[in-house]
Amino acid sequence: MKKRIFLDGLLFALLIFLMCFKMFPRRYHEAMGVVIVLPILLHLVWNRSWFTSLRRGEWSAYRKILAVVDILLIVSTIVALVSGVAIAHRIFKGVFGLAWQRSILVHQLHITSSYWMLLFSGLHLGLHWKGLWWRLVQWRGWDVSSRSYRLGTRLAVTAVIVFGVAGSFLHRVGDRLMMEHVFFRTNTPARGFSLAAFVLFFVAIFGMYAVVGYWTERRITRKSI
Ligand code: HEM
Ligand code: HEM
Repeated sequence: MKKRIFLDGLLFALLIFLMCFKMFPRRYHEAMGVVIVLPILLHLVWNRSWFTSLRRGEWSAYRKILAVVDILLIVSTIVALVSGVAIAHRIFKGVFGLAWQRSILVHQLHITSSYWMLLFSGLHLGLHWKGLWWRLVQWRGWDVSSRSYRLGTRLAVTAVIVFGVAGSFLHRVGDRLMMEHVFFRTNTPARGFSLAAFVLFFVAIFGMYAVVGYWTERRITRKSI
């Protein structure tokens, strides 16, 4: 139980680090971009029953939505990893040749796929939130009926949405998802913020999609009862 929570947390931390590309030296980004493959593979191995049971059982609305999000998450992850290696020019210089490394299209594809990966990982976590949170509550022994717990969770959700919406504008997330070319120095308002705020905005953007995933799961499962 704890090892799954740890692995999910590690994946999340690495993803946020990779999204903060502009704040760290490029070689760390390339190194971590390859390191993340290990926890992703372990995560897939630990969840292999999902792949092996795809042809079995009933396909509820929740299962269908989860499968679509999972497939899109897998595709965006593969595109981000492959395009990242193709454009690398520090550690993995020229693996796919100079034409790929210099191609604007592949650069754009890398940026766009990584933002889609952030969006789908958020939805993916939100769709799993109930199970994951329950494991956390049991592990930490929190009293879910207490007033402070209820107030704390409401405040946290409100903060995530407010900062998530603000972060989406400051990082020009919409333009990046649509593969628009955005100049970081002149056209990304988030560049003026400190490292802590830069990170916080990405955490909140991820969290905002997780809230959407969670609300979707709540709505569908309530309806199908
Ligand atoms: C921030 C990153 C991620 C988090 C927090 C996360 C979280 C989770 C959670 C909570 C589960 C339920 C089972 C468990 O606890 O292990 C799960 C399942 C799964 N994850 Fe992830 N995940 C992340 C990234 C990824 C990525 C990048 C992929 C694929 C490239 C992926 C593919 C899967 C698959 C295939 C399953 C099983 C099917 C399902 O139940 O949805 N996950 N993930
Ligand atoms: C899933 C893993 C990855 C994610 C989420 C990710 C994310 C990002 C992000 C958000 C940017 C900056 C986009 C911007 O300008 O705002 C970026 C740029 C970049 N990444 Fe990655 N990356 C990943 C994997 C990799 C890998 C494996 C490599 C190379 C080995 C790599 C190499 C690069 C390079 C060279 C750039 C600069 C692109 C440019 O200047 O046009 N990335 N990445």
